[in-house]
Amino acid sequence: MNLTELNKVATAMVAPGKGVLAADESSGTIKKRFDAIGVESTEDNRRDYREMLFRSTDAMSRHISGVILYDETIWQNAKDGTPLIRLIEQAGAIPGIKVDEGTQALPMCPGELVTVGLDRLAERLKKYYERGARFAKWRAVIDIGSGIPSMTAIHVNAHALARYAALCQAAQIVPIVEPEVLMDGDHDIDRCYEVTSRVLNKTFQELRVQRVALEGMILKPNMAVSGKKCAKQASVAEVADKTVRLLKACVPAAVPGIAFLSGGQSDEDATAHLNAMNTLCPLPWRLTFSYGRALQAAPQKAWSGKAENVAAGQKAFTHRARMNALATKGEWASALEQKAA
Ligand code: 13P
Repeated sequence: MNLTELNKVATAMVAPGKGVLAADESSGTIKKRFDAIGVESTEDNRRDYREMLFRSTDAMSRHISGVILYDETIWQNAKDGTPLIRLIEQAGAIPGIKVDEGTQALPMCPGELVTVGLDRLAERLKKYYERGARFAKWRAVIDIGSGIPSMTAIHVNAHALARYAALCQAAQIVPIVEPEVLMDGDHDIDRCYEVTSRVLNKTFQELRVQRVALEGMILKPNMAVSGKKCAKQASVAEVADKTVRLLKACVPAAVPGIAFLSGGQSDEDATAHLNAMNTLCPLPWRLTFSYGRALQAAPQKAWSGKAENVAAGQKAFTHRARMNALATKGEWASALEQKAA
């Protein structure tokens, strides 16, 4: 393992003014997104949609540091035969790959899940590296409910995340470590804070036990937010304050950067929260985005599967990428959203 090189890639992923596009929806998830805009989820439609994003040259070269791909996409060619992964490289962004294989029910823990995909991961990482991937992603899912999460679920998921991260680094790939505490449910922000803190502490404990080099990884956490069904929704300032406090308490300064998931927040909330955090300087690590829905909901709607809407889709994507890029520097303001509209 060459830690200097890993650190270089990790640092580039969180460069000021840039963030990660999570375009790694599994076949099931992209079908759900396409259903919502009335588009059939065929291999060609998935290709056309992602090609539209990766050919948004302005957004890709100025605001996007890296793209997380799904297995199908990393092997797929654009309409003109160019591999999609080359479009990303040509724009100056770094290709990455989702390597977990989804979740399964966790035995003895009703309602809880464990992420799977460690078997043969070493061989798969080797192939992805040869294809050009320089970072990877593994997502663990922790739900908040009555009596959950159990310490069992937190422990097994943290263990798997660390196993994955160590295998990535051995394959010269930067691991994005993503322990996602879901924002579904009616819990308040303090409960989210408390659960996320247990999850992060366990995750870093496992990372240390399994000898993962913190300088060569990126953390992808949820923010401390109120559950979607909670009657009392925390303000932008409270989310920013509590999330930064939580991360300072749990995340070692050796980690080069933290790239948040959007997790079902509205586009503008995800941007506003990131922006507010980046005004709370100084911070020990870079804070940026690794958004899926909060970057793609607008372009998906604008595109709606029609070739004549590609320019509109690219415009919507470029706008969201630029807003979030500004938020990585604490330079976003909601007036910029209205101006563009
Ligand atoms: P969302 O931003 O839509 O939560 O997706 C990010 C992601 O990669 C989840 O694994």
